Amino acid sequence: MSLQLGDIVPDFTAETTEGTIHFHDWLGGGWAVLFSHPKDFTPVCTTELGEVARLKPEFDKRGVKVIGLSVDPLESHHKWSQDIAETQGQAPNYPLIADPDRRVSSLYGAIHPNANDTLTVRSVYVIGPDKKLKLSITYPASTGRNFQEILRVIDSLQLTAKHGVATPVNWKDGDDVIIAGSVSDEDAKKRFPEGWKAPKPYLRIVPQPGK
Ligand code: BEZ
Repeated sequence: MSLQLGDIVPDFTAETTEGTIHFHDWLGGGWAVLFSHPKDFTPVCTTELGEVARLKPEFDKRGVKVIGLSVDPLESHHKWSQDIAETQGQAPNYPLIADPDRRVSSLYGAIHPNANDTLTVRSVYVIGPDKKLKLSITYPASTGRNFQEILRVIDSLQLTAKHGVATPVNWKDGDDVIIAGSVSDEDAKKRFPEGWKAPKPYLRIVPQPGK
């Protein structure tokens, strides 16, 4: 069975560009993003890894660690990092896992044999402080991901964790949010003493907490 939302993510020990890691220890008690990319020295991946490096301050601001994964060996990751610096203006400033035997990729279900039986797909796993999977998305090798969207989802997940709110369609930071269905009206009155708009009893809208 593949990894599902709410599962504790698999632990592993692996070589990375920043030394050997024991994944659960590396996670500590914080948020993290693990993203797989199909192969080193490929064009779409090169642009993605440069973008994640540029966005690192945004992940840091949210207390989120970032780590990349591909099936290439460590030496290849190090050589490719120089190309990323040269072409994208920024070398990876986060660890890249070397996974030449596809052990980690297989643990995370990032090899989809009917798409390609040797390379990983482009998956993103957002992991919460409880080490549980909060989000996974998978793109084909030919489509680069939108890492602004990953930051947007992290903002939503962190709001849910802290304030018991959900976020509506196309929500972005600063927009109104929805009181989660799991919060009773009685509890909502304590959390949101200013009240809320409710065009339907199940649709309770409040300004974003903390803004
Ligand atoms: C790319 O990053 O461009 C890529 C990687 C693997 C297969 C196809 C494209």
